[in-house]
Amino acid sequence: MRHSAPHGDISGSSAQWSDSGFDQSLTGWDRFADPLLGGGVGKVAGSGVETGLGSAHGKAILLGEHSVVYGAPAIVLPLLDLQATASIRRARRGFITSDLYTGPLATAPIHMDPVLTALRVSAEQLDVRPDRVELILRSTIPFERGLGSSAATSAAVVRAVANLAGVRLTEAQTHSLVQEAEHVAHGTSSGLDAHAVQSMTPLRFQQGKPTTVKVVEKCTFVIADTGTSGSTAAAVDGVSMLRDIQPRVVDRVVEDLANLTDDVVYSLGIGDPIRVGQSMHEAHSLLAYLGVSSPALDAVVAAALEAGAYGAKLTGSGLGGCVLAVVPDQEQAGDVAAAMTAVGATRTWTTSLIPNDFDLMTAPTARVRKEDR
Ligand code: PMV
Repeated sequence: MRHSAPHGDISGSSAQWSDSGFDQSLTGWDRFADPLLGGGVGKVAGSGVETGLGSAHGKAILLGEHSVVYGAPAIVLPLLDLQATASIRRARRGFITSDLYTGPLATAPIHMDPVLTALRVSAEQLDVRPDRVELILRSTIPFERGLGSSAATSAAVVRAVANLAGVRLTEAQTHSLVQEAEHVAHGTSSGLDAHAVQSMTPLRFQQGKPTTVKVVEKCTFVIADTGTSGSTAAAVDGVSMLRDIQPRVVDRVVEDLANLTDDVVYSLGIGDPIRVGQSMHEAHSLLAYLGVSSPALDAVVAAALEAGAYGAKLTGSGLGGCVLAVVPDQEQAGDVAAAMTAVGATRTWTTSLIPNDFDLMTAPTARVRKEDR
């Protein structure tokens, strides 16, 4: 067991984002001239061998999991310190090296299907033979814990293939290729993860449309892994079955989660982490009502609250996986992480959102300092 010290800030600058959140200006596949424009990919020239590189980061859903599947909004945080990377080069035979499987592509087990789908669909689009590559995957994102492992790995593969092909993909193009792999991984997928693993800022996501969430005060979170995994497909199917039986009740819960999500967007915009925590607390109860919590998740949530968190909830599809807690500051983060570990959490991470108040950044003359408010 370990509690890692604060990993640094996860909310970056918005500079590369258009109003819609994505650069939609490139419609075709764009041969790139400058590898630095590749959105996280670069081109490496080895000794006569070309290697394509790609990476993407993890994510944590702050609010709106499950309800997002029914059209409600969700908020997702980028976890820049948790990374998946892919490196790919042309080879005589397809071969993959990863923590989950190492061997020929042709005999890869079924749990590799999402990543193989990412490889196949991107290779087909980009004129690379998917059965004639050697792929090496590395990841610090825990597998099946709701932190975006599958989407980040797929995004890293798509970017690596594009890099090998010398093509610069737009965010939207990468998203649509990753989304094909996500459908294989999870069945029905809202598309949230595929956007989140590419975003440098927190996003509000609704019905396929991501927008950047404004943050005016630093906000610190602790993530704790219960050490158990839950199947996203099983959790999503479970909620769907409950909705078949009790449509009005589930729709009411979805509506309540939607309201809580937008309340958190508002709270981050006014710098009120206590209110963020209250909404998270209510959301956990509603998710438990939908049947996607577990005794391990409930115990870790309770321990976080007891240790001084403003609020805590399961994050991701549930039935296992991780808890996300919002805490007053870095110091309290250590206490909360220790309390979560004491009731069984196997790993914890601390991460912060930093202010990204774009209006103030772009219009300095209109700047209102905190102490003037
Ligand atoms: O297991 P995760 O973190 O990838 O959760 C997916 C979030 C859900 O809302 C449960 C499903 C979805 O497609 O949005």
